[in-house]
Amino acid sequence: TFVVIENCIKCKYTDCVEVCPVDCFHEGPNFLAIDPEECIDCTLCEPECPVEAILSEDDLPADQAEFLQLNADLAAEWPVITEVKKPPEDADEWADKPNKRELLER
Ligand code: SF4
Ligand code: F3S
Repeated sequence: TFVVIENCIKCKYTDCVEVCPVDCFHEGPNFLAIDPEECIDCTLCEPECPVEAILSEDDLPADQAEFLQLNADLAAEWPVITEVKKPPEDADEWADKPNKRELLER
């Protein structure tokens, strides 16, 4: 499966959602999650994200490992999103900020 990682938090550009052939993105307040049960590993979403927030589970660095289970848990709670929408006003300011994990809203 592919996994949305920390970089997405407070950026949520949503460029990723429109290319997914099986609608596996789910939207929360300031983050998206991929449903691992639905993802077919097509790879189309990975290059769409401007902040490189999507990785194959096989490429997850150790400090992002928790996002594998987190995507599964959040996808189960949140509604599907299939259309691009405007990112948060301050998305660009958060684009290169590290250590955003604590800011993830559920
Ligand atoms: Fe959707 Fe393909 Fe990305 Fe999986 S890899 S989330 S199927 S676009
Ligand atoms: Fe997040 Fe990147 Fe998609 S910031 S919403 S994973 S385009």
